[in-house]
Amino acid sequence: MATPSPANLRAFVRNNTRLLPVPDLPEIRLHQADDVMAMMSLAGGELGEEDPGLPFWAFAWAGGLAVSHYLLEHPDDVAGRRVVDIASGSGLCAIVALKSGAAWAHAVDIDPLSEAAVALNARANGVRIGFSRQDLLGAEPPECDVILAGDVCYEETMAARMLDWLRLAASRGTRVLVGDPGRRYLPPGMSPLASYRVRTSHELEDAEMKDAAVYTFPGGG
Ligand SMILES: C[S@@+](CC[C@H](N)C(=O)[O-])C[C@H]1O[C@@H](n2cnc3c(N)ncnc32)[C@H](O)[C@@H]1O
Repeated sequence: MATPSPANLRAFVRNNTRLLPVPDLPEIRLHQADDVMAMMSLAGGELGEEDPGLPFWAFAWAGGLAVSHYLLEHPDDVAGRRVVDIASGSGLCAIVALKSGAAWAHAVDIDPLSEAAVALNARANGVRIGFSRQDLLGAEPPECDVILAGDVCYEETMAARMLDWLRLAASRGTRVLVGDPGRRYLPPGMSPLASYRVRTSHELEDAEMKDAAVYTFPGGG
C-alpha cells in the first residue's frame, strides 16, 4: 500500500489526537494520544503496516523533555543558531529551540506520521519547521550549528548508528545535545550537562516521573 498523501496523514493526526499542553511545559502544545497501543494499531492501519512500530510522534518522550527543559534554561545554546532535531517524533525539541530563539529548525524523522505531526504541532505553536524523512544517519551530518537528539538510545542498532553520526557531527564542531532517561543503549561513561525529573506517564514508562539528563560530546561548539 502506498503511503497516504501528506494531507491525509495530517487529517489522520488531527482526527486521532488531542491538542494538549506538554506536562510541565504549559507553553508548548502538541497533538497527543492517550493510549499508545490503540494509536499503534490505528497508525499501522493508516500506513498499511502489518507490524507497526510505536507511535512515537504522538507523545513527548522523556529524552525530548530533558532537552526541552535544558533549552528553556539555556536559550543561548540555540539563540540565533541553525538547529536540526534528529529523530524528531512530535517535533518537541525543534519547537522549543525556535521558542528559545533559534534562527531556524529542521526536523528529521523516518516516520511519515512524524512529518504530519511536526507540521501540525509547528502550526499550533506558531513556529515554522522544515522536515526531512530521509534516513540521514548514513549520510554526512548536515550543515548546522546544533543537533538535538531526544530519546534515541532505545534500540540497539538505531542507537549505535545514531551515536556514531552524532559523534562525527560533534567532531566537526556541531554542538550535539542528547536527552536520555537512562535507556538501555545509552553508552556508559557519558557525563551529563544537566539532569531533570520529567513528567511522563505509565502509558509510556514504568513511572510517572523519570530522571532524564542531557549529554553532549567533546568537540561540539
Ligand atoms: C523515542 S522517539 C523520540 C521523539 C522525540 N525526539 C522525543 O523525545 O519526544 C524516537 C524517534 O526516532 C525516530 N527514528 C528512528 N530511526 C530513525 C532514523 N534512522 N532517523 C531519524 N529518526 C529515526 C522514530 O521514528 C521516532 O520518532
